[in-house]
Amino acid sequence: MFKLPTLPYAKTALAPFLNEEQMTFHYEKHHKAYIDNLNKFLDTDASLKGKSLEEIILSSTGGIFNNAAQIWNHTFYWFGMNTANNSTKPSEKLLSAIVKDFGSLDALKAKFVEEGVKTFGSGWVWLCADKNDKLVVVSTSNAQVPFTNSGPRPLLTADVWEHAYYVDYRNLRLKYLETFWSHINWNFVSENYSSTSVKSLHAAHI
Ligand SMILES: [Fe+2]
Repeated sequence: MFKLPTLPYAKTALAPFLNEEQMTFHYEKHHKAYIDNLNKFLDTDASLKGKSLEEIILSSTGGIFNNAAQIWNHTFYWFGMNTANNSTKPSEKLLSAIVKDFGSLDALKAKFVEEGVKTFGSGWVWLCADKNDKLVVVSTSNAQVPFTNSGPRPLLTADVWEHAYYVDYRNLRLKYLETFWSHINWNFVSENYSSTSVKSLHAAHI
């Protein structure tokens, strides 16, 4: 069984960037529904028994993949955000890579926001590092994660499904993404950059 992970902050702690109603629907309804759906598959599919969340993502398709990947994506999203505006900074190593690969932190923000705004329909925008630690900004559709097919490891993501921002921002995805950028947990992003593997979110598996 998988369980809904505990948020690293109170549901009200990201306000006014994300207010309690937005957080409640997103976390307690949408994220929880993916957990409940995957647990139903676990009840009936013996091949899933004992697998980590990442192993399920890398070995499944269809509804099992969609629900497992959405659990991973949402957990990763929550941990990438910080409750206090701009209170953390990228590590020296990460900042050097940002300057090398994008020119500046502001240029990375512009690229990330642009990629998120132009993602058609539902999906995710990501900052990732490839196997040579080169930074890339990519978007994925629906539940897709970047790291299937030996793709890059995620460092940070923003949910651009409408359910992620519509309560607080209506159709203003640009404003949501620009405000997201001032609430990044750079300690989390820097740790993911220093790691050589995809972040393990096994803690959700009990
Ligand atoms: Fe979402």
